[in-house]
Parts: sequence; structure tokens; C-alpha cells
Amino acid sequence: MTNSHTRRFRIFATCDIGEGAFKILRDRGYKVEVYPDPEPPPKSLIIERVRSGIDGLITTLRDRIDAEVLEAGRGTLKVVSQYAVGFDNITRGDANRCKIPFTNTADVLTEATAEFTLFILGNAARKLYPSERLVRNQRWGTWHPYLPFLGDEVTGKTVGVIGTGRIGHAFIKKAVGLDVDFLCFDTEAPQPDFARKIQDTMDVRFRNGFSADSRSIRSVSFEEVLRGSDFVSIHVPLIRAGEGKFPTYHLFNAATLRLMKPTAFLVNTSRGPVVDETDLAAALHAGVIAGAALDVFEKEPLPADSPLRDPKLENRLRLFSHFASAARVTRLSTDPNQGMAGRCIQGLIDVLEGNHGGNPANMPYVVNKEAFR
Ligand code: GLV
Ligand code: GLV
Repeated sequence: MTNSHTRRFRIFATCDIGEGAFKILRDRGYKVEVYPDPEPPPKSLIIERVRSGIDGLITTLRDRIDAEVLEAGRGTLKVVSQYAVGFDNITRGDANRCKIPFTNTADVLTEATAEFTLFILGNAARKLYPSERLVRNQRWGTWHPYLPFLGDEVTGKTVGVIGTGRIGHAFIKKAVGLDVDFLCFDTEAPQPDFARKIQDTMDVRFRNGFSADSRSIRSVSFEEVLRGSDFVSIHVPLIRAGEGKFPTYHLFNAATLRLMKPTAFLVNTSRGPVVDETDLAAALHAGVIAGAALDVFEKEPLPADSPLRDPKLENRLRLFSHFASAARVTRLSTDPNQGMAGRCIQGLIDVLEGNHGGNPANMPYVVNKEAFR
């Protein structure tokens, strides 16, 4: 596979993304250095490597790739290949200014993230963790109609979806089987076809007797989603003030949480800072909402003194380790249509080897195409 026409590209990966992916690069003659620790490297080390003239940088969401890093690579760094769909850790304006394309790994983690969302939603609603704890701690008394606690069914409820991009859509497709109604909000115009197809699917389920009631999917305002939903699931990118027309930073705060039903649950598999955690903890204590399931946090790993760790919230608040895409094939497959590892290195190869006519604007995995048009 070694391409004798390409010079020996030098790559620095801030993280081990699996031997298979690195083998593909090395087999092509690339020189690959992988930061060996599970913890991310200090920014100073990334800058030092970029300054040394590497051609490609493989990053994760833990690395802050800002003006300082990108300026260090101006004229030499040809591509930043982000092993994630989200790229809020990369300052797009600086990448554009430095004319450095960056890629992401959209699509391949869509289904994994969507199913995980549904699982943690159900976990919170049906109190799976408190139930297992009873068994493990020898506190399971007897079978009883309602003691020591009951959960809430998801079937037949109203599910709110904030953000109807790839993952929001995939989540809806999976949740259809629970015969829920959907209330959706997005700042982008909804794809009319998608809602119509979901409605068709729901109608077929009803006609065939699979669903006891006829169900609907509707696009409504943000406030209407919050007011009307029994479960609200967040599927937006993190957009800080000034970064876009609809900033999502602290979109869920004391004021917006108060719009939700006191029986409702919040589910977040997007980015932690979309939810104000101090406000969420307060809302849970005060019974403003019933519960939550979180896979992402304002600071990761979750600090020891986080208000979310309060044992008083333990039965109603599920906490996970930014784990939604962490399925074997999704993370490690070297097939760019299956795995983040495969897509990550294909994005890198496309830029370095000048695939798709050599223009990053035409490369499918490049995010900041606008800088190259
Ligand atoms: C994970 O959070 C990702 O953005 O891929
Ligand atoms: C529960 O186990 C039941 O049999 O209803």
C-alpha cells in the first residue's frame, strides 16, 4: 500500500485511537507518533509537536485546539483530524484564518449515540440503578405492588427532542417503537420528509394494532417542547455566545428548566455546558423536574465536588462517563463507514494525499469547507 509518490508524512496523535488505524497510516509510509498516556497531553506538548513541522494532528475532544496551536502550525500543519463528531474544542475561525482544514467523525457514531440515549432515558425513568442497588446491597425486601418505589413508563409518553440533526433523527427512529408522541425543536428548518416518514411509520403501527393510540410528531418552539414533554433529550452542538446565531451554552438553566413538567426527565448526550449543572442540581432538589440522565458534563471527568454528586439526588439522577459512542465497532473499526478510527484517518489521508481533487472544500469529512471555497 506504500505510496512512493507521497513524501513521508509526519503525524502526531494526542491519543491512541487503536492499533488498526495507525497500522494503515504506517503501511502507507507515514511516520506516526502516538502520545502514550490515557490522559491527554499538555497543550504545550501539542504546540511543540506542531511547531516541529508535523503534517497531521489527530485530536480528541479533550484537546483545546485554539489560535495558539493553529498559529504554531500555520504553513506547515496540513490537517487536524478530530476523533469525534463534536468539535467545540477547535476554534473554527482560527483554523479558517490559518487555512488549516479539520475533519470530524460524523455519521459513524450516530446510531450508537442514539441507542445509548434511549437506554439511559429508560434507565432513569424505570429506576434501574436503584433497583439493582437494592439487590446488591441485600435490601430487596419482598415483591410488593409499590414498595419501595416505582418508576415511570416511557411507552405512550411525549418525548421532546432538542436538535434534530443526525443523532436527533436516529434517536426518534429508535424511540418510535415505544409509541410516544414527539415534540421537536431545531433552529434549522426541519427536513419535512423525515417527520412525514416518521408519521407514516407511526400510522402503520397504529393501523396494525401495534400501538394502542395514534401518535404524532410535531415541530414546535423550544418553550413548547419543554412545556409539553415528559422526556426532553438534547442533541445540539455546543455553541458559545458569539459563535453562532443560536448559542446553546447553558440553554438549560433555572429559567428554562422551570418550563418543564415537575414529572419530566432531562437527558443529555450532547455536550455538558449546554446544561447549567448548578441550576440542574437545584431544580432536582426543588422538584422542578423529576430526574435526569447525563452522559456529558461541564467539566470532564466530573469533579469530586460537583453538586450533581449529592447523594440526595442519587435515585433520580443517572451519571455516565461520556460513553455514548463507546461501542467496540463504533470506536475502533478502521472502516470509515463503520468506525470513528477509520473515519478519522480517512479524513487525514484525504487532505494529505489530495483526494477529491485536492480541494478540502470537496472532501466529505472536512468540517470547515468554507475556508477553501
Ligand atoms: C463525542 O462526544 C463526539 O463528539 O464524538
Ligand atoms: C410480576 O412479576 C407479575 O407477575 O405481575
